[in-house]
Amino acid sequence: MNRVFILIGGITLMGILTGCGQEPAEQKKPPTEPPAVSIPPAQSPAPRAHPVTQETRDTYQFYCAQCHGTAGHGNGINAPHLTVPPRDHTKADYLETRTDEHLFIAIQQGGLAVGRAPCMPSWQHTLDENTIHSLVSYIRELCQCQAL
Ligand code: HEC
Repeated sequence: MNRVFILIGGITLMGILTGCGQEPAEQKKPPTEPPAVSIPPAQSPAPRAHPVTQETRDTYQFYCAQCHGTAGHGNGINAPHLTVPPRDHTKADYLETRTDEHLFIAIQQGGLAVGRAPCMPSWQHTLDENTIHSLVSYIRELCQCQAL
């Protein structure tokens, strides 16, 4: 008889010790409060206000490729005839040191407006602002870089 009591007592004790009840499980719930500081995921570029469209790519091929090259490498058919080599739009090391604003002004008002060579022409009488913004987005796509 005694053994049976010990056995039953043991099982009950185990139930208490292993915490099979609901309360301990509830205590393990993650805190409902959000972390005080939410850190944005690194290197995830924000969606661009002026996305690249087929029209952007066509504009680049039509107006920019003769100097900057069809793939943006700065090796267009006109490049050897320029005193300053056209910028390689696929190279991040320079372009990430420039803001989008700088690239916009360079395209809109020409190289001189940003302290660069005048053989980068001004496009303000040819291209509207939205097109120029989308060209900036396209250059960011080519260099796979953002302003640091
Ligand atoms: C006649 C040749 C020529 C054409 C056409 C041309 N570029 Fe350029 N571009 C240049 C040269 C040369 C530079 C380099 C200027 C320097 O390094 O001083 C340059 C530089 C740039 C730069 C970088 C400015 C900087 O800080 O160095 C951007 C951005 C740019 N071009 C965009 C464009 C876009 C977009 C088009 C087409 C709408 C275009 N370019 C058409 C010659 C050209």
